[in-house]
Order: sequence, then structure tokens, then C-alpha cells
Amino acid sequence: MTLANTPPHWSALTASAARIEATPSATLLGDDERNKDLRHTLAGCHFDFSRQRVDGQILRELLELTRVTDLAGKRDAMLAGEKINASEGREVLHTALRDGAPNAPALMREQVEQTRSRLYACAEAIRGGSWRGYSNRAIKDVVHIGIGGSHLGPELLVKALAHLPQSQVAPNIHFVANVDAQDISHALDGLNPETTLFIVVSKSFGTLETQVNAASARSWFLERTGRTDAIAQHFIGVTTNLQAAAEFGFAAENLFPLWDWVGGRFSLWSAVGLPILLQIGAQAFSQLLAGAQTADEHFASAEAAQNIPILAALLATWNTTALGCNSLAVLSYDQRLALLPDFLQQLEMESNGKSVDTNGQQLDYRTMQILWGGCGTNGQHAYHQLLHQGTSRFAADLIMVANDPWERQEHHQWLLANGIAQGQALAIGHRPTDPGEQHKYVGGQHPSTTVVLDELGPHQLGCLLAICEHKVFCQGVLWNINSFDQWGVELGKKLALPIFAQLEGQDSSAQDPATRRLIEYLSINRS
Ligand code: F6P
Repeated sequence: MTLANTPPHWSALTASAARIEATPSATLLGDDERNKDLRHTLAGCHFDFSRQRVDGQILRELLELTRVTDLAGKRDAMLAGEKINASEGREVLHTALRDGAPNAPALMREQVEQTRSRLYACAEAIRGGSWRGYSNRAIKDVVHIGIGGSHLGPELLVKALAHLPQSQVAPNIHFVANVDAQDISHALDGLNPETTLFIVVSKSFGTLETQVNAASARSWFLERTGRTDAIAQHFIGVTTNLQAAAEFGFAAENLFPLWDWVGGRFSLWSAVGLPILLQIGAQAFSQLLAGAQTADEHFASAEAAQNIPILAALLATWNTTALGCNSLAVLSYDQRLALLPDFLQQLEMESNGKSVDTNGQQLDYRTMQILWGGCGTNGQHAYHQLLHQGTSRFAADLIMVANDPWERQEHHQWLLANGIAQGQALAIGHRPTDPGEQHKYVGGQHPSTTVVLDELGPHQLGCLLAICEHKVFCQGVLWNINSFDQWGVELGKKLALPIFAQLEGQDSSAQDPATRRLIEYLSINRS
């Protein structure tokens, strides 16, 4: 696979890519009419695409792709509940979780509504102190156990929105995802089982890491209390697999359903988001859902040329497939969004990291690039050197928040100044005229999007994350791939099973020599 090609319907764009390569970003940015067409605001989220490497002609050609690929028809099919996840035979209706799919089947909408009111009541009881542990004490610590889509969204939002003023005291929320014992040992350290509640989240209830961590949590609890009958008061489960969860010991009233029509990485709006609800309360959680719903309505109805997720997807796909950017740097200029790159890594890479199209054909063009990132300004003193003077082709998303709650305005002004400056340097670079100063050459011409949230509130964040979800869907359509399965993850899971047994002493001679030697080395060196 050379990946040098572009999808079949991209011929006009291939010629345009050559033209834009020869156009400096400074020239593009000098055209304020063009820039105006590339700036869009929705619900306190401002998207500035002007530093992308496109001109008016390319934008028109990209918009034509939405017609050729029937993007609008496919979007409507998704929102109406058609089984667009063909390899798993499933609908894709995470929008129904925030009332953003009005044409979804009535039964689904009812299930969502019922589960949401149970969830709100549960959170209210925990936050308000009426949920009591076995010794009649209120809950102080919540340990959330889950991985991937059952972890990343909740932790991102719990941390991002921890600054919101509280009408009630939120419990301390701890996250355990990795099967590495350090994760759970660290979380449990110093906790009192009388005042600790576990939330076990697993869509399948079959994920190894979550099974092992949940079993350790239960042992920890039983060793300290000896009270099997108290498991019900101290364990909440969220899953589609209600039977397996019941066998674990959850009480039926403390089990919250998930549904096959919600992908794990799109599930933070469901009961998976219980820790978010515990952190921010029902009112703010409703605002989070309302922000996402605003994005859903916009996605469903705005013209393609004004439609933020469609534009974001067209530009991101252009960068990858036509301009050859092989990574996407997500640079959060707000420490509260430090986990945004981790969340987007799963959302974008697990969804669109594919090399087979919807007809099962191998692709010969690039799809989702490696997404990575971190926080500004810290990154400027670490990896930005490579961004400015290295040889990699990449695109960047810079995320800023206009207002912060800390009463230290000078800090925030510097943060924003640096965020704006980095985008400028990535676009325009620096060409020293003095031949003796060529070591200071900064090429520029790197495409970037700047997102500015008016403030980091639940409404803005809900809108931003839903836009990211829709962008992922649109990119899948443009690349003709299924964004909603993740078969590649299965291989590693399957391979780990015999290796686990071989580390325990079973015969490993059927393994390839490199694997066998590693197993032997570890077996000898484990005490
Ligand atoms: O293995 C990958 C994955 O299946 C993700 O898609 C998912 O979010 C995660 O594992 C956790 O799965 P579950 O919620 O079923 O435990």
C-alpha cells in the first residue's frame, strides 16, 4: 500500500493541492474576505479555520465532495436510526442521548428519558448525602472503573469542569482504567470502604481491564468489611450486559443500561457520564446535553458551507489525504483541557484509523492520521521546536478559552497571547534574510484551526465535543469507511490470552521465536 493516492472522486483537488503548495500562508491570510468565510461561531464556540491551507476554489471543490459522497443523505440516515454501522449491524444514535435525534424510534427516546431520570435521582442521592453506605455514612469518595470510551469522556469532563461553583459538595472522584496494579492501588490508597462507592462501567461487561479492576475492588471492599450483603450499596454498574453484571453482584436498582446503538467513545452523554453528573450536578449536566443538542441541530440543518462539523471534516480530510499531514497536534491552551487530546485520540483514531472501505476493499489513500497533543504553554518548551523547525508534515488544532475563573488576569493574557502567537508562527514562519542566520529559519505553512470558547462551561463543552463527534462521522463518509467499529483492537486482546497462560508456566513453544524469548525472559526474571 503506497497511500500516495487520493480517493477516486478527488481529481480536481489533486491539481489544487499542487497549486496551494506554492502559495504562502501569508498570502492566503492577507485576503480578509476569504478569512471571513472561514470563521464560524456556535453557542459560544468560535471556530477560526482561516489558518488552514485553502483558497476559495479549494473550499468550493471540497464542498462539492459533500454532494458526491451524499454526506447529507448519510447524515440523515444516521440521525433517523438506520443501521449505518454495517459490520456490527447497529444503529448509531448517540445523538438520541441528548435529544438531538428527533426522528429516532420512540422506544429508544423513552429508554433514554427513563434512564436519565433514574440517573439524576441517583446522583442527587449521592451528592445530597441520602445515599448511605452499609454503616449508614454518606459517600465521600467515588471510584470509577472503566477504560476507553467508558473512561476518557468522564475523566475529561470531571477535570475540565471542576471549577464550576457547587451548590452541593461533590464527592472526590477517582478514576481507574489501566490493568496496571498501580492505578487501582493508588486510587484506593487511604479510602474508607464505609464511605466509598464504586461505579463499574463497561458497555460489554467483558473488557479484561475492567473485569480485573472490578474484581480487585470487590475483594478490597470484602476484605475490609466482610459484608457481601453490602455490595449493593457500594457498587453501581453501567452496561448493556445486564445479566453478567447481575452475576457480579450489583443490585438491579443500581444497574444502569447502555444500548448497542451507542458506541463506547460516543457514550459520555449516557449513564457512562455518571461521574460528570456527580461532579457538576444535574443543572450543569443538562446544560452539557443542551450544548451538544445545539451542535446536533446545527449539524442536521446548516448549509454545508456554514456547517461547522462538515467544514472541520473537509479541512481535516484535505490536510491528511491531499496535503500529506501525517499527524494532528491538539494543543490545549487551557490546563483544564489537559485531557482533551487523550479523549480525541480515542474518538478520532479508534473511529477513523481504518484501511478498509465500507465494501471491504483495501484503501490506497491516507485516512486518520496520528493524533497527539498536550498543553500550551508547556509544550512550547518541549516539542514545539520540532513543530517549527522539524521535517514532519502535520496539522494543529489550538484550543483557547476567552475567560477563566482565576483572578490572575496577567496569567490568562499571557496564555492567550502565546496560543495566538503559536498559530501565527505555524502559519507564517520566519525567513531570515541574513545568510548567517539560516539556523533561525522557520518554514511555517502548517495548517491549523483555532477554537476559542467564550468560557469553559458545560454548554460550550457539550457543543464542542458534539461537533468533534460529527466531524468524525463526516470524515468517515469522505473516506468511505465505517467510523463506528474497531475490529483492529480485537487482535491484541486475542493474542494476550495464551501469553498470560504462558507467563504462568504453560508451554510457549508454538509462539514465534521473538515472542517466546520475551516470555522466557520475563518468566525467569519474575520473582
Ligand atoms: O477495546 C476497545 C474498546 O472496545 C473501546 O471501543 C471501548 O470504549 C473500550 O474498549 C471499553 O469497552 P467496554 O466499555 O465494553 O468495557
